[in-house]
Amino acid sequence: SKALTILGIETSCDETAAAVLRLQDGCAELISDVIRTQLEEHAPYLGVVPEIAARAHAELADLTVKAAMHEAGLSYADLDGVAATSGPGLIGGVLVGMMTGKAIAQAAGKPFIAVNHLEGHALSPRLGNDCPFPYLLLLVSGGHCQFLEVRGLGEYRRLGSTIDDAVGEAFDKTAKTLGLGFPGGPAVERLAEGGNAEAFDLPRPLLNRPGLDMSFAGLKTAVARAAEDAPQTEDRLRDLCASFQKAVTDVLAVKAGRALEAFEPGEGQEKRFVVAGGVAANKAIRAALEHVAAEVGARLIAPPLRHCTDNAAMIALAGAERLAAGLVSGEAGDLGTGARP
Ligand code: KG4
Ligand code: ZN
Repeated sequence: SKALTILGIETSCDETAAAVLRLQDGCAELISDVIRTQLEEHAPYLGVVPEIAARAHAELADLTVKAAMHEAGLSYADLDGVAATSGPGLIGGVLVGMMTGKAIAQAAGKPFIAVNHLEGHALSPRLGNDCPFPYLLLLVSGGHCQFLEVRGLGEYRRLGSTIDDAVGEAFDKTAKTLGLGFPGGPAVERLAEGGNAEAFDLPRPLLNRPGLDMSFAGLKTAVARAAEDAPQTEDRLRDLCASFQKAVTDVLAVKAGRALEAFEPGEGQEKRFVVAGGVAANKAIRAALEHVAAEVGARLIAPPLRHCTDNAAMIALAGAERLAAGLVSGEAGDLGTGARP
């Protein structure tokens, strides 16, 4: 079939990103992939500030798109379509990305493809061209925490999700409580390496409840209480980080085991288990999931970190797959209802 060349734009949180991707016969080739993170702008506030994000996206979107096109050595006329994240996300950034994408599409006379951000994450392992449908996905980032069964394009079933905080959010809040800065995940992981994970008895919320829903807000509170009681020595800090990380890891591992048991890929199909999102960078969590997958004969697929965290390559891929399948909409699609726009 004809190759499709798609420009993708991602602006829903704190990265301004643009990428050009070519899709031919189901095989994706990334031609350019630009990501400009705003981490430094948000760091003083120990979290992502929507107002700052919106302004940064407005300043960076055009430049980022131009950089991606320049790197690809293409002009807008060479494109077959333009895809942009249309939600969910911080509304200011989403609007900037949508307007940028729509304007380019309109001026060049190309179709505009609205992409649901979660569909982008759900399809991200396919950037590696070694992840056919179906697969089980655990998406764990600062904003998301859910198990999704990915059967095909537009065929997603949410199996369970957090009922309060996302995992990355729990890492960030724990880091904030302990005065470790933002983003918290890497800082907590670094300290946890030298700590005793049995030192603090922290809760494993919802672990003994059936099903795949998760909860991390109580854990964050327990960490705060433990931090108040304990003298703030470097060793206690390490122990607390290790205990917190172990609690999170235990919850994810048990739930992943359950999800994998319930997931039936179909006759003669390999069981594929993808972990994506910023928290997938955590080595302890990754190792635990690897172990759980091995126990049931599943293959764990962890996309490169660059494509686990927010990026435009996954948005371009989702746009290309949608265009190839004739599933194009100029408005936001809804994920999880099974409805097609
Ligand atoms: O996917 P991502 O870049 O952004 C969202 O879409 O949210 O994920 C960022 C989140 C942050 O909460 C960060 O603390 C967490 O991922 N994170 C980690 C690690 N690296 C990043 N959490 C635990 N361990 C890590 N090594
Ligand atoms: Zn995301």
